[in-house]
Amino acid sequence: PTLAKFIHGLPKSEYHVHLEGTLEAEMKFALAKRNGMNLPFADVAAMKASYQYHDLPSFLAIYYDGMKVLQKEPDFYDLAYAYLAKAASQNVIYAEMFFDPQEHLKRGVTMADVIGGITRARRDAESKLGIRSQLILCFVRDLSAESAMATLDAALPFKADLVGVGLDSDEAGNPPEKFREHFAKARANGLKVTAHCDVDQTDTLKNIRTVLTDLKVDRIDHGGNIVQSTELVAIAKERGIYFTVCPTFSGTLRRTEKMPVDVVRAMLDAGLKVTISSDDPAYMGSEYIDGVLIRAVDRSRLSKAELIAMTRYGFEAAWLPEADKAAM
Ligand code: ADE
Ligand code: ZN
Repeated sequence: PTLAKFIHGLPKSEYHVHLEGTLEAEMKFALAKRNGMNLPFADVAAMKASYQYHDLPSFLAIYYDGMKVLQKEPDFYDLAYAYLAKAASQNVIYAEMFFDPQEHLKRGVTMADVIGGITRARRDAESKLGIRSQLILCFVRDLSAESAMATLDAALPFKADLVGVGLDSDEAGNPPEKFREHFAKARANGLKVTAHCDVDQTDTLKNIRTVLTDLKVDRIDHGGNIVQSTELVAIAKERGIYFTVCPTFSGTLRRTEKMPVDVVRAMLDAGLKVTISSDDPAYMGSEYIDGVLIRAVDRSRLSKAELIAMTRYGFEAAWLPEADKAAM
């Protein structure tokens, strides 16, 4: 078959997708209407044309502004169901999805509505579409440590609907150790832990070291700069760490390199366990996992064997009981 058909046919998983980053412009208009809000864009095309960013902070400003239309339980249901339907249509059979509740609580939305809407969509998508999923609560790292702790406390009554916690948003000035207690408490409550280490951030290697050795994460989101340290690569291998890489957003190391380095290629060459995800597809050309993988084959010179190996890592990485993993 053609490459596109081959990729489409692979049973896939996704571990790095922000639900709020799957909020398509069309749905933004629909939710704004339902919630009686006005958006400062004439139409979908004008809204999409405003998605211009050049680094993590400029991306985040657009992303946080966009999610303000999410107000009520059915909004979170619609958001999650639309992503799961899209993913299922591309043969994703399992997904672990991030969400950023702090941003919604700020607007007066309750944790029950956020987690409740998403959980209802997860159940419906599993029974109607056959796609299984779990939910990872992300701390927004540029908000205060107190806000993150209050959010964790508000979420713990719903911990049966969560599989883990993560760390996202602006890394500059917000090193992982700011969340040491939060991660320990999450773990004590039976949750898994992961953290974003976006490429080419300030103190990137120091932060990768901290998440590996101090926060003791189970996975790393992005993490491409690790290839610049043989010592950290060895630690990650020793610990069997999986990396959730999103080439659309964090596909190249530039800042400290003479020549741009392709992240997926370099990580595979270093022997690391790489899985590929779509991150924030609504803001990244509405390209979902099939498109991301097709592009990755070309830009990272992936062999078929590597594609298949990454597909397999994609299921080994699941935060599921071993028996369930084997069944996939
Ligand atoms: N929030 C949503 N997408 C993100 C990303 N790729 N990095 C950090 N924070 C995010
Ligand atoms: Zn991300």
